[in-house]
Amino acid sequence: MSKKLRMAIIGCGGIACGAHASNYDNIDDIEIVAVCDIRPERMELIKSKYKSCANAWETEDYMDIVKCPDIDAVDICTPNYLHAPIAIAALNAGKHVLTEKPDAMTVAQVEAMKEAAERNGKVLMAMRNNRFTPAALYARKAIADNEYGRFYAGRCGWIRRRGVPGDGSWFADKSKAGGGPLIDLGVHMIDLAIFLMGNPKPVSVSGSTFREIAGQNEKGGLFDVEDLAMGFIKFDNGACLHIDFSWATNIEKDVRFVELRGTKAGIKIEDDVLSVYGEKHGTPYNEHPQPRGEYGHCVAIRHFADVVLNGADPIFVPQQGVDMIKILNGIYESAETGKEVLL
Ligand SMILES: NC(=O)c1ccc[n+]([C@@H]2O[C@H](COP(=O)([O-])OP(=O)(O)OC[C@H]3O[C@@H](n4cnc5c(N)ncnc54)[C@H](O)[C@@H]3O)[C@@H](O)[C@H]2O)c1
Repeated sequence: MSKKLRMAIIGCGGIACGAHASNYDNIDDIEIVAVCDIRPERMELIKSKYKSCANAWETEDYMDIVKCPDIDAVDICTPNYLHAPIAIAALNAGKHVLTEKPDAMTVAQVEAMKEAAERNGKVLMAMRNNRFTPAALYARKAIADNEYGRFYAGRCGWIRRRGVPGDGSWFADKSKAGGGPLIDLGVHMIDLAIFLMGNPKPVSVSGSTFREIAGQNEKGGLFDVEDLAMGFIKFDNGACLHIDFSWATNIEKDVRFVELRGTKAGIKIEDDVLSVYGEKHGTPYNEHPQPRGEYGHCVAIRHFADVVLNGADPIFVPQQGVDMIKILNGIYESAETGKEVLL
């Protein structure tokens, strides 16, 4: 390792504290040199709570970070509508970018981010923490050993009975979030499913969205997004994926899962627990491996540093972000038009 990666955190709210600064405390390759938030008290909090941020300088204007030649990379933890403008400005200023999910709100934005990364020769990675959980890392090893065969169909979802994020904040404002649970939660589980399937190219989507439960009694703020989205994605290799995401719907209990049907065995990662369903000697078997390890965010951030500092092969490439936003926006379009959308 030649040197530490000098990074700035932009947006010091819930996820920046809970899953970024807290992990930087234990990541030696990264030094947090600056923090940025339009709310000074958020910067004070992150600096006082996390030793990794204690000596960071502060600014309320992210362009101060973008213009600072002493910063190698930015970690964008702002509301969704700011991911693309901040990422593009940082990439054009020669910085590497790690951005929280969703990568962007529109296809035009995410394509512009990819183009800026390529033109400037910089690493652009969107947070995909679910690819790096102990269960996912174990499944990836078993997939590499061809234990499950070819995945040809699957289902995934993050279904909350009652769980609107943000307490009346930007999360349910379409102009700032881009959508509801589909863009907020869908990006996690759809990505994990496609990644474990070997990144087939999505070719068409159809879907429906609803706002039937949430929105009426939220604590102030606009609520102009869906509270439930269901849909169907088809891939160029013939595989398909059924999706189901909600912030509010009348079900028995919350569940977060990816279930894939393989020709040799099926797998399910449900609430971070892996199960394998196969058949041996004419008899069905279920396995429940118990992998242990660090949180997904921590491993994902370490991986970003490894790619930037050591040239490691990136697990995430920007085209996967383009495909993801095409899927999500395609499902919104299909919900509006009532028709299947070709991607
Ligand atoms: N990967 C995950 O598991 C996960 C979980 C939660 C949230 N997220 C994502 O992280 C991002 C932030 O979510 P959150 O829950 O922390 O939201 P939040 O509202 O708690 O935090 C956002 C912060 O950004 C700040 N901000 C707003 N405009 C800014 C600007 N112009 N410059 C600098 N700072 C600005 C706000 O003041 C706030 O402190 C979202 O994109 C969300 O989708 C990811």
